[in-house]
This record gives sequence, structure tokens and C-alpha cells, in this order.
Amino acid sequence: KKTIGVGLIGIGVIGGAVARGLKDRAARLEAQLGFQVELKRVKVAPQDMTRPIIAEFPENIFTTDDDDFFNTPDMDIIVEAMGGEYPAFDYLSRALSSGRHVVSSNKEVIAKHAAELLALAHKHNVGLHFEASVGGGIPLLEPLQYDLAANNILGIYAIINGTTNYILSQMDSAGIEFSEALRQAQELGYAERNPVNDIEGYDSVYKLAIMAMMVFRTEYKPEVIYREGITQLEVKDFKYAKELGFVIKLLAIAKADNGAVELRVHPVLLPHDNSLSRIDGVYNAALINGDLVGDVIFSGEGAGPSATSSAVIADIMAAAQDTALGVGNRMRWRLDDNRPLLPATD
Ligand code: HSE
Repeated sequence: KKTIGVGLIGIGVIGGAVARGLKDRAARLEAQLGFQVELKRVKVAPQDMTRPIIAEFPENIFTTDDDDFFNTPDMDIIVEAMGGEYPAFDYLSRALSSGRHVVSSNKEVIAKHAAELLALAHKHNVGLHFEASVGGGIPLLEPLQYDLAANNILGIYAIINGTTNYILSQMDSAGIEFSEALRQAQELGYAERNPVNDIEGYDSVYKLAIMAMMVFRTEYKPEVIYREGITQLEVKDFKYAKELGFVIKLLAIAKADNGAVELRVHPVLLPHDNSLSRIDGVYNAALINGDLVGDVIFSGEGAGPSATSSAVIADIMAAAQDTALGVGNRMRWRLDDNRPLLPATD
């Protein structure tokens, strides 16, 4: 096949960056892969047809009609970048059931429906790629799936939400109050459409559920994970913490414990010389402890259109290669364990 066709659902902050990235990098992708990757169709909500980005593409690639979108010929891969649980779940189910490889940046729907979506991917023998759902541009899920696969993962300690880490850094280093720092994070395209998901820790819970699912091969529903956000914090808390040699970070923690698992998201006082204490602004970091490898740390830009499009486009390239080679689902892990969740302790 000379051209692999891509369909995109959503043209918001992330979808827009992906569409532009595919267009701007078309020649490089072709040189690298040996075939073209072409954005064939974009499914948008009617209100999005007024977005300025629409003018950058031929008008006939956009559609507001579901059937019209799914019936697009030569559309081999479907990318979902709309976010939220519904209707994203319905679109992902339909995309997998139609036998296309699927790429999603949507942590909420993956965290809430992973088992059903993975079962569909297995049934239809297609790939479900979601690297961009955790840690923005940081390679994190693929290394867990491939490079660290031989390890028993003993613990994960992660700063996994760019918006809250940006807010905490601004409160700490610049003395900027919470609401102003949140406004800045929204302006930079880091925050969720509903920023409550960031500041109350839901987004971190979704991402923790996804990482835990991959390493413990068990589905953990977000609502059973202990969660505290950052809305109670004030600038003075950072001053007191600093006087005592600590910084405040919102951590997502997963610990293996005798066949069971502990999962929690909450603000933590970290000694200033801890490696996670130095992760500032929109940067995320995940320290992963494996029984063979010891500690490894992944860090980089955890949110924002450019960094996130890096992960989405890489997933599209992997799915395009699989399509070209006729490879189906090549996931290395299965969701078939049942590691119980320990009650959260203080
Ligand atoms: N709102 C998310 C964050 C976007 O701030 O980390 C990336 O998933």
C-alpha cells in the first residue's frame, strides 16, 4: 500500500496539533516509513466548524456526520482526540469494531473502559495505542509494555498532571496564587476542558489507573482509587514547607505489596533533594522501580499540544506500519490478573 489513511475525531487543542503535525511532517514520515500517511477525514462537532484551524485544510475533509466519517474509504487508522468518557467510548468501540487500528490520547475513557476496549481490539485483531494518554510527550507506556516487561514492577511514584505541577511550581517559586496560576495553565493549553479534573486529582487518577493496569494486568476503576487534589493549598503552605526543607508535589503512587496493590493520588511533602522535587512547571516525571532494573526515571513535558502530538503521531506511525505489514494486535500484556487493591492508608 502506498498511502495509509488516517481519520481524526476532534479538532481541539490536541486534535489540531496532530492534524498540523501530520501535514507539516508528511514528507519526513514518508521518507521514514516508506509510504505516505494522509489525513483523510476529520469528525468535528458542529460548533468546531468555526475554529480558525479549519481553514488550514481542504474543507471537504471535515464532517459532522458519524456515518459519513466511519464510511470514509481507505481510512486505515482512527485517532480519537476528543477527550471525555462519552461519546468517546462509543466512537472508540465503533472504530475498533470496524477493524481499524485505533490511537487515543484520552485517559478518561481508557481508564474507565480499558477492559471492554482491549477485548474489542483483541476480537478484531487491531492495535489500540494510547501512549499520549499518560505523561503527554514522555515515552512511558511503551517502555512499560516493552523495555521493562521482564520486571516485576514494585512501585511507581509519578508527577503525572502538568496543570497541577505548573500551578504548584508557580505558587512555590513565584508566589502566584492558585487561581492566577490555573488561568495561566489554561492559556498554555495544559488544562482539561473542565479543569476540576486536573485540580481535584481525577486526571492523575485516570493516568495512575492506566499505568497500574499495564504493570499489574488488573483493571482498577478510577472511583476505587484514593484521591485528593490541590485546591486546599495556599502560597503560605509552600513557604512553611520550604523553611523545613520540603516541596509540595501532587503524586500518583502505585505500590506492589505481597500480591496486592496500593494506589493513591494526593499532595506529598518531598525533601527538596528528592529527584521528583526538581520537576517543575508542566514537566511530569515517573520514577519506576523494577526488581531487575532498579529505579528508572522518565521525565519531560507532560501536557500541551506540541508534546502530546509527539506521542500521538508516534502511535499513528506504529499503527501505520502495522497496517502496511498486515500486523494485527501486538500487545505484549493481557488484562487477566486480579491483584486486589489495598485500602488507602495515611
Ligand atoms: N490536563 C492534562 C495535564 C493534560 O495537565 O496533565 C495532559 O494529559
